[in-house]
Amino acid sequence: MQLVHDVAHWRAYCEHERARGARIGLVATMGALHAGHATLFDAAKDHGDVVVATLFVNPRQFNDANDLSRYPTSRVEDRALASAHGVDLLVEPTLEEMWPDYPNATPTTVSVRGIGEHYEGDSRPGHFDGVTSVVAKLFAITGPCRAYFGEKDFQQLTVIRRMVADLCIPVTIIGAATLREPDGLAMSSRNRYLTPEQRGQALVIHRALQVAQRLAASGESSSEKLHAAMRATLAEEPSVRIDYAAVVNPDTLEDLDDVGRGGLLAIAAVVGGTRLIDNTLVAVPPQPGPAS
Ligand code: PAJ
Repeated sequence: MQLVHDVAHWRAYCEHERARGARIGLVATMGALHAGHATLFDAAKDHGDVVVATLFVNPRQFNDANDLSRYPTSRVEDRALASAHGVDLLVEPTLEEMWPDYPNATPTTVSVRGIGEHYEGDSRPGHFDGVTSVVAKLFAITGPCRAYFGEKDFQQLTVIRRMVADLCIPVTIIGAATLREPDGLAMSSRNRYLTPEQRGQALVIHRALQVAQRLAASGESSSEKLHAAMRATLAEEPSVRIDYAAVVNPDTLEDLDDVGRGGLLAIAAVVGGTRLIDNTLVAVPPQPGPAS
């Protein structure tokens, strides 16, 4: 695995690989890597020839300075995990190259209206503008490739898909299933903030999604009923503060009245001081028509 810190070497590597016919898989991360990130490296390796991974804690997507300053770092372990999962080029770009104006605002912002303004966008003002601005830059430097993003951050995936479509960016976006701990907790870099007690409480998020998912699978398509089921389950852990429990269209992130044609259940909740998100897609089985 090669490790580079500058844009010129990163760009040259990708151009060289494409010129010899290699298909590049890109995985963007903020480090503090875990097995969920590793599934993206593995998928990129399985479907392509070379894997480029970026590790950059992007300050523009943190709307809370405290969240940024305490974001976990584990560079030595991250490099070992990336190398063990077939990453060919690990890019750890400098802040000076990525955002030379920082801490002042960078004049250019890529912003996806609508999708990026609901839920996470609403709870974390400016977050998605920071994500799309940095991801657009990663794509501009890497060039044509397949880029892998986790469904764990479903809204992020949807926003990035829309950005790529709207700007004709020559990158194919691939979504990857959420990797969970054996007890159901979605893997996240932020899980390492949780005390054992909080970790136990955090399981209620996945439980609430499952309860509503099972309800939908049994034929219940009313979003109101699915909301009620999620909230009733979340109430089992009064110390967990709900930010939102939503039933939305997975392509637009707009609220749905019913999930007859499918939908996305999404929860954001604060456990201790840690904000966690999780989601699941639901499908209601076709109901038998009236007997004739
Ligand atoms: P980060 O939180 O490091 O996540 C990097 C990628 O890993 C994202 O695509 C995320 O959805 C995926 N991921 C996280 N947890 C996962 C899990 N349990 N299973 C599968 N995939 C998982 O998301 C970001 O960084 C940043 O916003 C970034 C896109 C890098 C832009 O700065």
